[in-house]
Amino acid sequence: AYTNLYEFPLPIPPPKAPNFVYTNSKTGTPIEYYEIDIKPLEQQVYPGRGKAKLWGYDGISPGPTFHMTRGREAVVRFINHGRNANSVHLHGSYSRAPFDGWAEDTTEVGQYKDYYYPNAQVARTLWYHDHAEHHTAENAYYGQAGFYILEDGNPLDLPVGDYDLLLALAGKQYQENGDLFSPNTETTSLYGDVIHVNGQPWPFHNVEPRKYRLRFLDTSISRAFKLYFEADGALGTRVPFTIIASDAGLLTKPVPTDNLEISMAERWEAIIDFSPFAGKNVTLRNSRNVQADTDYLHTDKVMRFVVGNSVSSQQGNGDLPAKLRDVPFPPSKTGVDRTFKFERSGGQWQINGVTFSNVANRILAKPPRGAIEVWDLENGSGGWSHPVHIHLVDFQIISRTGGRSVTPYEKEALKDVVLLGTGETVRVIARYAPWDGVYMFHCHNLIHEDHDMMAAFNVSSLAD
Ligand code: C2O
Ligand code: CU
Repeated sequence: AYTNLYEFPLPIPPPKAPNFVYTNSKTGTPIEYYEIDIKPLEQQVYPGRGKAKLWGYDGISPGPTFHMTRGREAVVRFINHGRNANSVHLHGSYSRAPFDGWAEDTTEVGQYKDYYYPNAQVARTLWYHDHAEHHTAENAYYGQAGFYILEDGNPLDLPVGDYDLLLALAGKQYQENGDLFSPNTETTSLYGDVIHVNGQPWPFHNVEPRKYRLRFLDTSISRAFKLYFEADGALGTRVPFTIIASDAGLLTKPVPTDNLEISMAERWEAIIDFSPFAGKNVTLRNSRNVQADTDYLHTDKVMRFVVGNSVSSQQGNGDLPAKLRDVPFPPSKTGVDRTFKFERSGGQWQINGVTFSNVANRILAKPPRGAIEVWDLENGSGGWSHPVHIHLVDFQIISRTGGRSVTPYEKEALKDVVLLGTGETVRVIARYAPWDGVYMFHCHNLIHEDHDMMAAFNVSSLAD
């Protein structure tokens, strides 16, 4: 088994630079143009075994990080030199339907597609990942996932640069030869016994004794986490931290906590103050028995922060404001417009009895453009949990029944993924806008998604 925990440093994916910037001839505004090559790489991941064969954006895993400025449009050409057809979804963007990574809109090996991204939403942490029908689990797991940060000038003076850390979590599993154990034969879940952050199992990272912004993303196929921090000399005591942002940007206000639940595709951002721990280690841990995940020897550990003794900058090291922003929650509304049941039947993962392969029946809703709708997302599948992602919109979580309650930080947030724990029903409200188009919604356990717990809704400004 893997023994050398906290031995290797946390990899920081490099920033992606535009190939050039051209001018939108209608508006006179700049459009950034980027190219990403999907290609193979070999990476020594598992010590003492062979290299893992991966396929990554620009040949790295995770892919390079996009740092985008709100208001600057972008076109990204994804060139497929991978081994499967691909489709790219920018998760968290209200992209127009042709650029949203529709699962059947695949680009064959040797071909490319240009994706247009408006970058007009409020500042937030997005990620780009593969979304090809029946190959999403494989493509994302073998490396096709990366961060895409939309920035807006940092008016609250939050920590930036080296003090703003992107942390992509993933549970993976390896073969004796050091290659990944493939998800392709799985039909239920792949949790993985090896916990990675930014592609490195159980890394360490040197930090200063001051405040950091940590942007968590769970890129796992199937593993959810319940994170907490523990300091040397105080094992068993949880270090307090503060949640400030979610999938859709800042919360209304900072929410203090000592643990954070994060499931597949969710983004949660925290501020943690390492100043009480100068010269010590602070370890990021994961609780046991999270959802229905299977645990292994070290799945209760994630990474280690090694806290130094000096602070080189006070930027973003002050107190957080009492209020972060006015979150544009939809106006409240009574009643439920639609109910979607996520269940397993006849060995298939379904939504209201439909799979994505059921082309004739998979459009399950037709919200008029601009409509505010309340959806009940019901977990009818016994022992399984499902992180449900609705494309295009940001939603508010109104209630959760049948298990856990809405967490304190979920109450202050807009989201695009929500975890339906076993037996739970989650009620969400969203405005179906700003564009017309057919968009997907699905379970983000990528095995369930590929085995076909995915359907669509058609936002339309035309009357029926
Ligand atoms: Cu992150 Cu439809 O996906
Ligand atoms: Cu699921």
